[in-house]
Amino acid sequence: MSSKTPYKVLCVCLGNICRSPTAEVVLRHFCDEKQLNVIVDSAGTSNYHPNKAPDSRSQKHAIKRGYDLSSLRARQLKTQDFLEFDLILAMDHENFDDIQDLLKQAIQQFSASQIRSTIALMSEHDQQYPQQALPDPYYGEADGFERVIDQCESSSQAWVNVLQQQFQYK
Ligand code: 4NP
Repeated sequence: MSSKTPYKVLCVCLGNICRSPTAEVVLRHFCDEKQLNVIVDSAGTSNYHPNKAPDSRSQKHAIKRGYDLSSLRARQLKTQDFLEFDLILAMDHENFDDIQDLLKQAIQQFSASQIRSTIALMSEHDQQYPQQALPDPYYGEADGFERVIDQCESSSQAWVNVLQQQFQYK
């Protein structure tokens, strides 16, 4: 990564209204704190909630922890994203498989040489939640939304350590 070209990360869940918007804002916070040249965005594998603001429960829990999700709007993951983003972070294993399936379409539509993205789990380097899914809070209670923030903080800090090292040796 040159010092001028931002590294681009896309956080992906199913609906893009609970987990991935939270991950987007939390990861951005930790990247900014370390002054990393990283752009963070989010998307959903489904198109269940196009252009919707994050779930009000996600917003309520996040703002209490200092994270403002209010300006975000949901969108579906698209094949062009594989040309644009360096790293695509899946919130759970099903998201991971769905992203891989769309990657196959992107390779057909474009060509393998144009694909920029590496796909990984949000929890890939997280010692506290190693390779664990970020549980979907949508049909659950308040504790599920708090857990999403806990895991996003822990996994984001782990990713920031990895990215810092990656940028140092480039
Ligand atoms: P998310 O949660 O994937 O974390 O945004 C969900 C949001 C909506 C639905 C499922 C999960 N839904 O079925 O509408």
